[in-house]
Amino acid sequence: MLLGDDVELMPPMPTRSDAGGWHQPVMVEEVLSWLAPRPGAAIVDGTAGTGGHTIAIAPRLLPEGRLIAIDRDHTALQRAAARLADFGSMVSMLHGNYRELPQLLQQLGLEAVDGVLLDLGMSSLQVDDPGRGFSFLSDGPLDMRMDQSETASAETLVNTLSVDELEELIRSLGEERFARRIAQRIGRERIAAPITTTRQLAALIASSVPPAARYGRLHPATRTFQALRMAVNDELGALEALLACLADLLKPGGRAVIITFHSLEDRLVKRAFLQGQRNGAWRVLTKKPVRPSEAERERNPRARSAKLRVIERCPAT
Ligand SMILES: C[S@@+](CC[C@H](N)C(=O)[O-])C[C@H]1O[C@@H](n2cnc3c(N)ncnc32)[C@H](O)[C@@H]1O
Repeated sequence: MLLGDDVELMPPMPTRSDAGGWHQPVMVEEVLSWLAPRPGAAIVDGTAGTGGHTIAIAPRLLPEGRLIAIDRDHTALQRAAARLADFGSMVSMLHGNYRELPQLLQQLGLEAVDGVLLDLGMSSLQVDDPGRGFSFLSDGPLDMRMDQSETASAETLVNTLSVDELEELIRSLGEERFARRIAQRIGRERIAAPITTTRQLAALIASSVPPAARYGRLHPATRTFQALRMAVNDELGALEALLACLADLLKPGGRAVIITFHSLEDRLVKRAFLQGQRNGAWRVLTKKPVRPSEAERERNPRARSAKLRVIERCPAT
């Protein structure tokens, strides 16, 4: 399957609202309307980023609600924390992976919540910082770790996976038709010296695809960078793990809202939501994914590929 408009392209178009690297949240009104936060409710924002959605939800929980903001990126979480400081102890900021949500909630003495929000993918804070290595638009270390305390970076994968493993990774997560050529070229190039920077990798990918593919709509390194980022952060694994325990984490009537940016993620969410509905765990509230308004798509190009899906936990029987 080809990457279409429903794919978060690497690098995404600029979405910063200022030079400080704030992330412009997508579909904020839609999130508020579907998540329906109300006074006293407990809500998890599992991908808090710089807090764009979190800060919109927080006032709606007053008084005495609880907001649990999680991100695996320390820097993002610090920014979100500064923004949410006025809400005091109502907000718990947790550095962690949402795949461990049951344990994270347990630490707070909670078993289930009234709402879970996931806004997947990467934030502008990550993409716009050359030092994080997510983008080939500027040169930087080949990193791509959302959580910088993790050990394996894109550099690790590029220099240690076998050529066959690299090909499989680039084909399956990047849906890249030239995966074989790219993997073989990486294999040859790294014999002399490890590949360590974003520009170095982008240049060798560009030179390994046929000339016609070099000058298309997408930079030839787009799909490979996407695949590496998804692999480094095990993005699909985290999503699958969360979907598997979601029913137990929602109180009866509780809702989960998930925003995806490419077809591999959206397919996982769609299938798990339908499966849970068949099992009687929840009701799918969005027969078709909700898409951003035309105005938002124009204002924020990254929103163009967003798809929002919602489920509601069935009442206790
Ligand atoms: C699209 S951004 C979220 C932006 C946020 N909604 C806002 O308005 O600022 C996605 C965020 O999710 C985080 N993230 C991705 N996978 C995660 C995971 N498995 N656990 C926790 N955070 C994750 C990333 O570090 C990134 O900050």
